[in-house]
Formats: sequence, C-alpha cells, structure tokens
Amino acid sequence: MGLGECLLGATEARNVARVMRHGALFRYYGPGALPSLGFATRFERAVARMHRCKYALGVTSGTAALEVALGALGVGPGDEVILPVWSWVSCFTAIVRVGAKPVLAEVDDSLNLDPAEIERLTTPATRGVLVVHYQGVAADMDEIMQRARRNKLWVLEDCAESLGATYKGKRVGTMGDIATYSFQQRKVITTGEGGMVLTQEGRLYERAVRMSDIGQYRDEHRAIKAPEVVGFSGSNYRMTELAGAVGCAQFARVLPMIRHLRRLRAIMQREVGALPGLAWRKIADPSGDLGFDSYFFLPTHEQALALKAAAQKRGVSLAPHTGTYCQYAREYCRSGATHTANFSPFPTTGAWPAQGYREEDFPRTSNLVGRMVSVPLGARFSAADAAHVGKVIREELGKILA
Ligand SMILES: Cc1ncc(COP(=O)(O)O)c(C=O)c1O
Repeated sequence: MGLGECLLGATEARNVARVMRHGALFRYYGPGALPSLGFATRFERAVARMHRCKYALGVTSGTAALEVALGALGVGPGDEVILPVWSWVSCFTAIVRVGAKPVLAEVDDSLNLDPAEIERLTTPATRGVLVVHYQGVAADMDEIMQRARRNKLWVLEDCAESLGATYKGKRVGTMGDIATYSFQQRKVITTGEGGMVLTQEGRLYERAVRMSDIGQYRDEHRAIKAPEVVGFSGSNYRMTELAGAVGCAQFARVLPMIRHLRRLRAIMQREVGALPGLAWRKIADPSGDLGFDSYFFLPTHEQALALKAAAQKRGVSLAPHTGTYCQYAREYCRSGATHTANFSPFPTTGAWPAQGYREEDFPRTSNLVGRMVSVPLGARFSAADAAHVGKVIREELGKILA
C-alpha cells in the first residue's frame, strides 16, 4: 500500500463532504465557491509554505506537472533533456510529449542521477536536466547544480516520490529552477490523482499556469503575480476542489509520518546489522531521507533473488513501493513510437533502439539494479514489524552469504 493511502481518514472525508455541500467541485467557480479560500488554493499554500517557495500550482497528476514544468521552461522540438535511465515512465514520456528528446543517463549507487553524466551527455542541443529524487532520497544536488550551471542548463526536480525529503537542510524541490510532485495513490500523500509544480520564478509560474489552464491567467493568478507573458496555447491540467480537499487533510499527516518512518528504518537497519557483502544505497545527506524504501546491493543478482524468495516464504515482501524500471525495458523506448511520427524526437532512419536507448549502453545501472534489494516499510508498521523485517533479512542473508 501507499503511505498516505494507509492514513486516509475522517479529515479527508469531512473536507470532501464540505466541497460536496458547497457544490463547487471546480476550483474557480460554481455554487458557493470561494476560490481564494478553496481547498486547492489552501493545499498549494501549504506545500509552498513547507518549501518556503514563492509559487505552487496544483495540477491533475505528476505526469501533468512534468509536462507543465517542461512547457513553462519552453522545452520543445530540437531540445534535449538529460534524465536518469532508472526513472518513472512519465519522466521519459513527458519530454517526448512536448516534442523534445530524452537523453538517458546512468545512475550511481544512490539510485539517483550520476552527476558526472551531465558533462558526458551535454551537446549543443541540451537544455536541461530532469533530476529524480528516487524513493525518498535526494539526489546529490550540489554536484548536479554546479555541473548544470557550468553547462548553462536548467534543472527540473521531480520530487514525486520524496515529499518532505531534504538535502543539506534544504527541501527537495527548492534547489533547481522548477519542481514537480505527484499525489497519485501510491505516493507519500495521495489525492487519488494529483500533482503540483513549484518554482521561485514568477515568469515560470505564469507560464506553468498558462500551460495548465488552456493559456489563461485568471484574476486569482494576477493577484499572486502580475502578468508578463503573452497568452499561448496551453492544456487543461487544473486541480479540482475534491483533490484539494483530500490534499489538505493528507498534507497534515506528512511530517509525523516521516518521523515514524525514519524511526522504523533505524530499527530495521540496526537489526540487519553489518553483514559482509551487503552495501546500503548511498545517500548524499542521510539526515534528509524519508526511510520508507531502503535499498541495499548484494554481490550477485542470484543472491538478491534468493533473498527475496526466502523472505517471501517468511511473509516479508522485499518488493519496492514503486514500479520503476530502466527506461530501456519499456515498450515506448524499445519501439521509439510516438503518437504521430511527425512529432517524434527520434531518428526516423537507421536501426532502433539506437545507441543510448539499449540495455548495453547502461552497464553500471543494469548491474546495480540487478543486485538490488528493497526493504519497504509502511506508515502503519510498528517498531516490532520493522525489527521483524530486519531480523528476517539478517537470518536469511546470513545463510545466503555464508
Ligand atoms: C518519479 C515520478 N515522476 C512522475 C510520476 C508521475 O506521477 P503521476 O502518476 O501522478 O502521473 C511518478 C509516479 O507515478 C513518479 O514516481
């Protein structure tokens, strides 16, 4: 189960009932609508406050948030965007959907983008880097920002899996130029479907609003920031009041949940102890991660498979909270197909998958994820559950590594 999903309760129900009583499910008008006091607006303000960020814009999903952010940045045909090969579907598809070319990069043993890949992959067409803070752990943002700035690239932080995580005292989502969140069912908090875009830059905010609201810039937005951008053709990714209502209630649960998860992780790791051959995921700032999915690497793929099978037999699932795979294993990448060939960023001649989109082009990432084991801990787990998971890992791994 997802984290926020486990904690859905009376406040979420009460908020939704209030929206229903008013009858304005659309955030900007309807019977009894109070846009500036509405739930979608309040949710945006709460997330902005947590990040000490000037602008937050609620949208319909994390995928929509990525497309809106890329649109706000002005990304399109002819542009290249670097992203980790180990990342969610939409990180790749959102780039393709705006007509740009996704350029896949290796991850390192943090399971986040290897910062050195930025230099290796930058070409005259590269415009920016899409960084994913994978499963509660911030990428090494100092290194990434330095390298991106040196190459005059913007940075989009995809924080979909890491609401509340920090890096050297800063919240994820506040270090790049623009950031995105997802509030899908399995995320840190959920609104069923939902997302958010954060930025400190007024111009990017206005462009994001226009991307998400069919090019419009309403009075509500003018009150936040004066318009300066000529209206352009946007799409419709507006957050509903229903999503905002659930989001406000879920948001109040984030920080206590993170404290709980960190405590569980510490208990589980203490119980596993130090085993020769077990290497925990590298975390650039260990004080800032969320702790709900911990990862370690074993010497071989076979040992990782054997541990998962042995733990499963004892009722402990070591399946991660996410369905992330390497992008090269997905059909859209293997085919290179787009909704129309005219809009494809990929070459139309020559063999496909071309270099840069095949498994053999990512030896470090393939090797790492083959040897990887995840240890998921749930929001409703107790300290005893965490200790049990750790004990099972220690005992089974002890046999495998003996
Ligand atoms: C890293 C990352 N980016 C983007 C998304 C897309 O979010 P959504 O499912 O809300 O469209 C997800 C989640 O599914 C994700 O994990």
